[in-house]
Amino acid sequence: MAEATKQDDTAEVTTARLCAVGDLAPGEARRYDVAGLRVALVRIGDDFHAVGDRCSHEDYSLADGEVFAAECQIECAKHGSMFDLLTGDPRSFPATKPVPVYTVVVDGDDVSVVVP
Ligand code: FES
Repeated sequence: MAEATKQDDTAEVTTARLCAVGDLAPGEARRYDVAGLRVALVRIGDDFHAVGDRCSHEDYSLADGEVFAAECQIECAKHGSMFDLLTGDPRSFPATKPVPVYTVVVDGDDVSVVVP
């Protein structure tokens, strides 16, 4: 469920909770459908990254792909394009367009994304 949160005096952001910290093991990726977003949440070590879960090549779930922790990338399981989890940019063909990147908020045990 999306929730409006005031982070300072000027900006109010809306976040949507995805899961608890312990729900994802390091190196794991999982798809979440929240607040109209289709999100691939990836855990690398204690860090979480969220990108659009729709491969920009042919609408395939990126959460089904392999996570490359050292490179901070995820591979599309369908044709092998690698996507940078920090920028959303494809790092190999056949995909040529980026996927969206969402800001992750970890608050206590809750992992959420900022709804754009
Ligand atoms: S569907 Fe992802 S690379 Fe083709």
